[in-house]
Amino acid sequence: MDNLPKRSDKEIQYNVNKLLNKMTLKEKIGQLYQQIYSNKYATGPTTTAKSIEKLIKKDQIGSILSLYDTKKMYKLQKLSIEESRLKIPLFFANDIIHGYRTCFPIPLAMSCSWNLDLIKRQAQISAYEASHNGINMTYSPMIDLVRDPRWGRVMEANGEDPYLSSQIALSYVKGYQGEDLSNYNTLGACCKHFIGYGKVEGGRDYNTVDMSDRTLRQYYLPPFKTCIDNNIAAIMTSFNVINDIPMTGNKKLIKELLKKELKFNGFIISDYNSSMEMINHKYAKDEKDVALKSLEAGIDIEMISESFINNLEELVNSKEIPLNLIDDAVKRVLTFKYKIGLFDNPYKNFYEDSNKYLLLKENREIALKIAEESIVLLKDNNVLPIDKNKMIAVIGPFGKSKNVNGEWDALSRDKDSTSIYDASKQYKDYKLKFSDGCDILGNDDSKIDKAVDIAKKSDVIILAVGEDKYMSGEAASRSNLDLPNIQKKLVKEILKLNKKTILVVHAGRPLILTDYESKCDAIVYAWFLGNESGKAILNTLLGFNNPSGKLTMSFPYSVGQIPVYYNHFSTGRGLTKENKNQKYISKYLDIPNEPLYSFGYGLSYTKFKYKNIKTNKKTFYNNESFIVSVDVENIGDYDGEEIVECYIEATNFSVVRPVNELKGFKKIHLKKGETKKVLFTLRKEDLAYFNIDMNYICEEGLYYIKIGSSSNKTIKTKIKFKP
Ligand code: BGC
Repeated sequence: MDNLPKRSDKEIQYNVNKLLNKMTLKEKIGQLYQQIYSNKYATGPTTTAKSIEKLIKKDQIGSILSLYDTKKMYKLQKLSIEESRLKIPLFFANDIIHGYRTCFPIPLAMSCSWNLDLIKRQAQISAYEASHNGINMTYSPMIDLVRDPRWGRVMEANGEDPYLSSQIALSYVKGYQGEDLSNYNTLGACCKHFIGYGKVEGGRDYNTVDMSDRTLRQYYLPPFKTCIDNNIAAIMTSFNVINDIPMTGNKKLIKELLKKELKFNGFIISDYNSSMEMINHKYAKDEKDVALKSLEAGIDIEMISESFINNLEELVNSKEIPLNLIDDAVKRVLTFKYKIGLFDNPYKNFYEDSNKYLLLKENREIALKIAEESIVLLKDNNVLPIDKNKMIAVIGPFGKSKNVNGEWDALSRDKDSTSIYDASKQYKDYKLKFSDGCDILGNDDSKIDKAVDIAKKSDVIILAVGEDKYMSGEAASRSNLDLPNIQKKLVKEILKLNKKTILVVHAGRPLILTDYESKCDAIVYAWFLGNESGKAILNTLLGFNNPSGKLTMSFPYSVGQIPVYYNHFSTGRGLTKENKNQKYISKYLDIPNEPLYSFGYGLSYTKFKYKNIKTNKKTFYNNESFIVSVDVENIGDYDGEEIVECYIEATNFSVVRPVNELKGFKKIHLKKGETKKVLFTLRKEDLAYFNIDMNYICEEGLYYIKIGSSSNKTIKTKIKFKP
C-alpha cells in the first residue's frame, strides 16, 4: 500500500482550524465523547449499537472504545464517512497491553527482562497486529510506579523505579508509534494513569492517594515526562483522588502541569466513567458540574460517561464555559486524527484478510524470547538446570493449564498458548510425568493423593502453582499474598516428601514466598508469560535458556512489610549488625527490614564477579561527563546474560535522598570464563534531584557510584561534583 502523505505540523494545524470553523458546537462536543459500541458493563450508562450509530450519523461521537470486531468497526467508519455531515473519521481505541493476538508476558514480567529492544519489538508487533484490525490507538503503556503488590494492577506496570520505568515507557512509545504516526503499522499510544494511581491506600483499587509535590515530581512523574518528550499521542487520567481532588477534575495537575508546564499537546482522556464518579467523591454536585469541572481541569475526551454531550452546549451558551476551551480540546482530538492519517485514509487500518497478520511464526519467536528473558530465578540450591537422567514430576494446576496469558490479554486465546505439558512433547528424551493435584482455585482436594504418589516416584519435583489470571489486574486487590489455599495444601503435602523441589510460580504480582524460600530447593518466578509460557519455562528448567531476568519490584518478606522498595531513605536509627539487639532502632520485632528479594535481584545458572570499579576522574565539573567502569567476570559453569546495574548515592544534598538510585544498566552476554569491562557515562543531570528549592539540579558534593548485580549487592567508588 502507498504511504500516506507526510504533513507538517503547520499544515495539520491549518487543516484542523479550517475544519473547526465549519463545525457546529454540537459537532465539536461530539469529538470529545468516547463510548463503547454497546456497553453492558456495571459502570457507566447503557448504550446500544443503535444509539451509537445514530450519534455517528450526527457527528456526535468522536471515537469508539473496546470494539474488536473489525467488520463492525469498518461499518461504523463507513457510516461516519458516508452518512455524517462533516465526514470526520472515528478513531478506535483498545487496551492492547501485552499483545493483540500474539500474547507476550504481562508488562511487569517483561520489565524484568530489562531488555529495551525486545520490549520495543513486542510493542511493534502489537501495533502491527492491531493496526491491521481497525485499531488506531492503544491505552498503553501503563506507567504507574508501583510499590504495593496488594494492588492488582501492578501486573500492568514496569515496577518501582522511575528511571527504569521511564526507559521502558520510551520503548513502548517508540514501538507503537514508530517513526511517524501516519505510517502503516502504527498505533497512537496513550500512557496512563495520570497520576499516583500506583499509590492507592492499602493497595485497594480506586482508593485515595496522598503524596507531596516532591514525591510526585521526583518519582511518579518521570515516566510521563519521558512519554511527553517523545510525542506520545495521549494521556489518560486516573480514577483516584490525589491530595483531596479527583484526578479527573484536577486542574493543577492536568491543565497547569501537563498542558502548560510540560507543554503536552496531545489529548487527555478521562478513565472509564471517572468523570461521573466525581459525584461519588462528593467533588461535583451533578452531571453539569461534572462537565464543568472536567473540561476546566483539562480533560479533552470524556470516556463512557456523558456529562460532556449532555451539558457542554448549555454551559457554553450560558457563558459558564468559554468556547475556546472546547475548541482547544477539539483541536487536540482532530490533530491526532490528522497525524495518524485518518483524514487521508479513514480506512487505513482495514484489510481484506486481517487474520493473516496475526500470530505469525516469527512473532511467536519474539514472544518466546521475551518470555525467557522475563523469568526470574529467585533461588537455586544446585538443582537447576534439571539433569536429563532424572525422573521429573510436574505437580500442580499450572502443569497443564493454558491459563497463562494474564489479564488485559486483548484478543489472545488460551488455546494458542503452550502449557508446560504442551511444551514437554518436544523433549522426548526427558522423563516427565504430570499430575494436577488440584485446580487453581476451589477446595477440591481429591486429586492430591494421586499427585503425591506420582511425586514419590520421581527424583525431582516441579511444583507449578500460582494465582488465577483474575486475581491480578483491575479491581483485583488482595490483602493476602499467598497461593490459593488449595494449592498451599498441595505444596505442603509435596514438601513432606523431602525431595528436590522446584517451585514455579505463576502470578501477576510479587507473592509472599518467605515460607517457600526456606523449604524449596529452587524458585522460578514465571509470572504470566503469554503464548510461549510453557516453552519458556521448560527451556529454562531444562537448561536450554539460562535465566537472566531481574526483579523490578521488591518482593516483601510479609504483607506487613508493604510498602517496601529499594530506593528508600535512611532513618536516623538505621539497623546494623551491631545494633540489631538494641531497642530504639528502626526495625520490626518479627521480620527483617530488607525485602525477601530486592529490586534488581535475579540469579543465573552461572555466577558473575564484579571488580575494579573506578571513575576516570576524581572530580567532574558542570559541562563534563565522567565514566565509571567495572569488570564483570563469568566465574561459573555456563555462558550467560547479566544485567549490570549502576546506582548512585548522594551525600550532603540539601534534602534527604534514597540510599540507592538507579541511573543506568547494561545487559551483557558473557561466555564461561570471560571478563568484560562495562562502562557507564554519567553527567550532572544523571545525579540531579529536586533540591530544597524544588530545582532539579546536581548539587556540589560527594557521590557514591555503585555497580552490581542487584540493588543490594554492589561495589562502589566515589566522585565529586563541582559546579
Ligand atoms: C481502566 C483503563 C482502561 C479503560 C478502558 C478502565 O477501567 O482503568 O486502564 O484503559 O478501562 O478499557
